[in-house]
Amino acid sequence: MTKVATRDLSAGMVTAAPVYSKTGQLLFPARTIITSQRISYLEFYGIESVQIIPEREISDASVEDSAQDNDTESYAQKVKRSRKFHMFKVDYSKKTRFLENAFQNLMNKTEVLDSDALLGQISSLYSNHLTSLSVFDMLHNMRQIDDTTYAHCINVAIISRMMGKWLDFSDEDLEILTLAGLLHDIGKCRIDPDILTKPDTLTPAEFEQVKQHPRYGMEILADFNLDQRVRSAVLMHHERCDGSGYPSGLKGNEISDFAKIIAIADVYDAMTCNRCYRKGICPFEVIATFERKGFERYESQYLLPFLSRIIDTYIGNSVLLNDGSSGKIILINKQYLSRPVVSTAANKYLDLSRHPELYIQSII
Ligand SMILES: [Fe+2]
Ligand SMILES: [Fe+2]
Repeated sequence: MTKVATRDLSAGMVTAAPVYSKTGQLLFPARTIITSQRISYLEFYGIESVQIIPEREISDASVEDSAQDNDTESYAQKVKRSRKFHMFKVDYSKKTRFLENAFQNLMNKTEVLDSDALLGQISSLYSNHLTSLSVFDMLHNMRQIDDTTYAHCINVAIISRMMGKWLDFSDEDLEILTLAGLLHDIGKCRIDPDILTKPDTLTPAEFEQVKQHPRYGMEILADFNLDQRVRSAVLMHHERCDGSGYPSGLKGNEISDFAKIIAIADVYDAMTCNRCYRKGICPFEVIATFERKGFERYESQYLLPFLSRIIDTYIGNSVLLNDGSSGKIILINKQYLSRPVVSTAANKYLDLSRHPELYIQSII
């Protein structure tokens, strides 16, 4: 066994002995595989070093055994270790490459737009026996792996489709809405990739360029046979009900319904994603932001059901609170969606709506 400083740990190493916090709480048992999330966890608890099994002594069996009865393994870690997630990841990577190709062909007009073929390709990601709950599990855990425009378009398509289902849309409308989500950012293909992946804040001139992508999207799709609702969603998905959006500063009823739905799915995915310029924001913080100021910008008849349904998908997840304690989400407070009831080691039922000093810092 070798002692390795926390700052020198890397994903894939395996703990040789249990790791305890300074107050004696077991953080990880022996033979836990180190992941980047676990390194952040150790840093959070101020753990300076960890005993590690030398690489030559690691055997699959010894690691696998402990992972199975690992009580501290979080829900997200269990999802990531599951066969279902592995299969989803393989399929998802295939589909993002497919979409990248399709966008290039549409842009260069080397292919006609075959909506059924496009939808057929990605349908395995939301069918294949996945419930809305498990799709969100999958998406949430994919976010740390792929954050390209194509992955984002697939996420928005899946999230919008879920929204349509929650709103009882017909099958035909669901297909149109999914297609709108899939194509909503096709205009970004015309924007300099250096601007799209720039780690710093954009200059006003660069932002002006980015703001053109809904119009570019309309231009790319102009010659293809498409439902009008898809076109309007591509053009209007950055318009906001209070007139603060772009490219035209439209308000309320001037914005199409599909564009309003895509707007919510788009912002939710963009904020929770690990974009190059910042780490993804915790979904609970995103929901708190929507609760605070979302209702002026987004259509409340779509935003309300979205927030209350999406929050349900996080029941059972392990979370880290801002005071360093961790717990599991057990009950959602419908009046205060971003402040659920959490069970922690110290409190069986910690109602965050009664503890304004506490908030969920991350999902672990
Ligand atoms: Fe966009
Ligand atoms: Fe987008």
